[in-house]
Amino acid sequence: MPSPVPSAAAPRRPPRRGAAIALALLALMAAPFARHAAELGWAGLTRDLWPESRFDPPGVAVSAAIFLHMATGAAITVLAPLQLVPQIRARAPALHRLAGRIVVCLSLVTAAAGLAWIGARGTIGGPEMSVAFALYGALLALAAAQTWRFARAGAYARHRTWALRLVVLAIASWLYRVQYGIWYAATGGIASTPDFTDVFDRVQVWAFFLPWLALLELWLWHERRRGGRAARA
Ligand code: HEM
Repeated sequence: MPSPVPSAAAPRRPPRRGAAIALALLALMAAPFARHAAELGWAGLTRDLWPESRFDPPGVAVSAAIFLHMATGAAITVLAPLQLVPQIRARAPALHRLAGRIVVCLSLVTAAAGLAWIGARGTIGGPEMSVAFALYGALLALAAAQTWRFARAGAYARHRTWALRLVVLAIASWLYRVQYGIWYAATGGIASTPDFTDVFDRVQVWAFFLPWLALLELWLWHERRRGGRAARA
């Protein structure tokens, strides 16, 4: 079924400045983590980090993948939210399309490289963390592929839905650190251990992306209901 696309005759709402400011602030807040990830990723790709980093043990080829995922992940953390800025979409659609292709490709690389590391080496937190992070990577890849697919098909309502999911997933790695920061500031790190195996750590491996995705689905559902009601009125 074709997706509803605003017709040329439909009155267009002027882009909201508040949304642009909020998205720019989000990207700015995530920038220090993105910088850390980019620097670690670049360092790992360009020099030997063993024993400084546990991601670079001698003779492990898949290290390149985990460092690559940090660099590409850094880029999507900042770029994906900016794709939602209404003014850019309205005034520079070619830039939105180009940046969109870049975000999709980098998301696929981030997911594939992270999954390669999990497949070869697992994670510090053990099987539970490995399964959760693998699901996170699979969802990121799915959201990127669907965002691209529906944009190519001109199905803009579906494109938007998947793009919103992609943005939530792209910033989720940053949210993981934010949630740890808040928890440690509030409790001093109760139920969390350096090997990430205590209760808080085990909740966190799911809680950095699933509740945020659920909130988004709730909001989309509410939006659809409101839209349906307005159409019937
Ligand atoms: C979205 C952007 C992402 C960024 C910016 C990012 C960044 C990072 C960074 C900086 C680390 C090193 C952690 C440390 O400081 O010790 C890391 C570790 C890791 N990331 Fe990501 N990541 C992202 C997405 C993903 C995705 C989608 C996956 C899943 C496929 C993933 C899987 C992993 C794994 C398995 C580790 C190693 C965990 C461990 O054993 O310590 N990451 N990531």
